[in-house]
Amino acid sequence: MPMKLLVTGANGQLGRELRYLLDDDSRFEVIYTDVAELDITRQADVDACVSSHRLDYIVNCAAYTAVDRAEDDEPAAMRLNAHAVEVLATAAARHGVRMVHVSTDYVFDGESCVPYNEEDAPHPLSAYGRTKWAGERALLSILPQQSIIFRTAWLYSPHGKNFVKTMLDLGKTRDALKVVYDQVGNPTSAIDLARAIVTAITYPTWHPGIYHFGNEGAVSWYDFTKAIHRLVGITTCNVQPCRSDEYPAKAHRPKYSVFDKSKYKTTFQATVPYWIDSLTSCLERLNELK
Ligand SMILES: NC(=O)c1ccc[n+]([C@@H]2O[C@H](COP(=O)([O-])OP(=O)(O)OC[C@H]3O[C@@H](n4cnc5c(N)ncnc54)[C@H](OP(=O)(O)O)[C@@H]3O)[C@@H](O)[C@H]2O)c1
Repeated sequence: MPMKLLVTGANGQLGRELRYLLDDDSRFEVIYTDVAELDITRQADVDACVSSHRLDYIVNCAAYTAVDRAEDDEPAAMRLNAHAVEVLATAAARHGVRMVHVSTDYVFDGESCVPYNEEDAPHPLSAYGRTKWAGERALLSILPQQSIIFRTAWLYSPHGKNFVKTMLDLGKTRDALKVVYDQVGNPTSAIDLARAIVTAITYPTWHPGIYHFGNEGAVSWYDFTKAIHRLVGITTCNVQPCRSDEYPAKAHRPKYSVFDKSKYKTTFQATVPYWIDSLTSCLERLNELK
């Protein structure tokens, strides 16, 4: 019997990578929904969907991810990042379904200088971070033993809007560019996060809880940009390092978003690809899509 999954927010970066990964995989039967098919803020619709399919897992890829916009409309971010998680978890609890959810480095303040592990206390400094942390707490209170939360950072993929695609566009159209060097993190290829989710749900034993996941290695946005340009052969754009106070943004960005991934690696006996290898694969796929 194939494992039956409901993927919400399926047109987003992570949702599309799960589809890419699972489409030809006979171990799974997957129902893909985005807001047009299933608005996850609506309890009655979510209940109807979950009860009409005999699901094993809900994988929630939907989120309010516009971090600066969230500063101006925290209630809207809260509706999707926390209330909707409660809606999904309530339906999952009613129907005996497990849930995999995704959270963010923004739950931390970024003041650490050693990689964050799952025991570190969240301290969000942005509206987005507060709403995502509220979502984590809602899920853990409703489904403590039947849920997994992957916290990730700096997510990119061949789809949607992300830093890699923006830097490719700017590199091709600008002569010069300033990029911050004083924020350091784990770039995360969404396909690797999709694989980590599959690893967790196919592992012979179920291990609920929070896991930190990103690609191995840590870089600044400046280093990341230089690598993106170097790998595709952009030589006409002069990239200069700058400090984040030269580019004030509405939302506070954590200065240090590096995760300790040992819990994920040990629990699921898994390896995590190094950031430049995953970046290279993503750029190759982007090139094929041209
Ligand atoms: N992007 C990052 O850098 C990053 C970093 C750390 C963690 N994360 C987390 O990783 C997860 C995946 O992020 P992502 O970048 O793949 O997100 P994304 O590309 O923004 O995709 C989110 C999807 O959710 C959909 N959605 C919006 N409202 C909905 C609703 N009411 N019901 C159902 N679906 C709805 C969106 O549709 P519309 O586009 O039509 O609104 C979109 O397709 C999220 O939990 C995010 O918080 C992301």
